[in-house]
Amino acid sequence: MNILNHKFELAARPVGLPKRSDWAFKEEPVREPADGELLAKIIYISLDPAMRGWMRAGKSYVPPVGIGEVMRALALGRVAASKNPQFAVGDYVYGLLGVQEYAISNGAGHTKVDPSAAPLPVYLGTLGMPGMTAYFGLLDIGQPKPGETVVVSGAAGAVGTVVGQIAKIKGCRVVGIAGGAEKCRFITQDLGFDAAIDYKAEDVTVALHTQCPKGVDVYFDNVGGEILDAVLTQINRGARIIICGAISQYNNTTAIKGPSNYLSLLVNRATMRGMVVFDYANRYGEAAREMAGWLAAGKLKSREDIVEGLETFPDTLLMLFKGENTGKLILQVAKAEQSASSS
Ligand SMILES: NC(=O)c1ccc[n+]([C@@H]2O[C@H](COP(=O)([O-])OP(=O)(O)OC[C@H]3O[C@@H](n4cnc5c(N)ncnc54)[C@H](OP(=O)(O)O)[C@@H]3O)[C@@H](O)[C@H]2O)c1
Repeated sequence: MNILNHKFELAARPVGLPKRSDWAFKEEPVREPADGELLAKIIYISLDPAMRGWMRAGKSYVPPVGIGEVMRALALGRVAASKNPQFAVGDYVYGLLGVQEYAISNGAGHTKVDPSAAPLPVYLGTLGMPGMTAYFGLLDIGQPKPGETVVVSGAAGAVGTVVGQIAKIKGCRVVGIAGGAEKCRFITQDLGFDAAIDYKAEDVTVALHTQCPKGVDVYFDNVGGEILDAVLTQINRGARIIICGAISQYNNTTAIKGPSNYLSLLVNRATMRGMVVFDYANRYGEAAREMAGWLAAGKLKSREDIVEGLETFPDTLLMLFKGENTGKLILQVAKAEQSASSS
């Protein structure tokens, strides 16, 4: 097989925001898949805030990426060669394929996707891991009821856009917190949120008081830090807080800042619960079917932010932490229609 792979390996554990020198860009020949393996040509790589956590040593819900290992990432590719009976050449697969152009894998944990049912990038966002996170975090843990007020932070991002739209489908008042006027316009005018709070321009506590006149029943937290603390001052009795992420804290060089207003949970008999999407893996099909129906009916809109070029990976990843993405951030590393070719 006369093909070269290019890939990013983790070269050093970052302190603060990842730097170019934390990565090693490597070239290597692609080998033939062995029995039970497949070779995927990667088209789209999913860039996720969780990748920052995977670079950190220490205990988490998955082991860290080792120094010298290809950077872990969800990706979507097309099978270019296969000695695995479950995958045929030409199949589109979504799984942990890594930040590279070609991946050899045994297919464990990969799902096949149907390019005729939805555009391929949607399978990395609304119908992929972020969409599953939104669906199960909101519905299973948040349990929103019609007429309740749902607040979501990171509201213009991959998870937040889906959370807010599902909450609208469930008949809730939805308030999104996002950075900047354009993101606030997008979630209200294009996605139908009832209100938006620009945390970069407004006092979040004051704005929540205005936009949530009946208080907050469900808070889907993507950012942690000061915004979590502000929402805690506005929750209702029996409120449910979903701890999905805390992106404001991921690049801290000092200790993570926890909420100081946590006694509001006691006063309001409220719950705050963490969630990891992988715990719902055996129910992804159920969520994908329902969300595909909402997409087809026009009740749910999917937004992807696609940047081209594997070599841009170190800078493109940082867009997540600088708030430069709207919707699901994706790195495109091959043209979709040429993905089955072997050059
Ligand atoms: N628990 C799970 O299983 C699970 C699964 C998937 C994702 N997550 C978490 O869900 C959250 C959202 O992930 P995503 O993939 O949807 O990312 P995303 O929202 O598409 O992108 C990240 C966004 O975070 C916002 N942000 C960055 N720094 C911030 C700060 N200091 N304060 C407030 N907001 C900040 C930015 O938007 P603004 O311009 O609005 O600031 C940025 O666009 C992350 O915390 C992620 O780790 C958890």
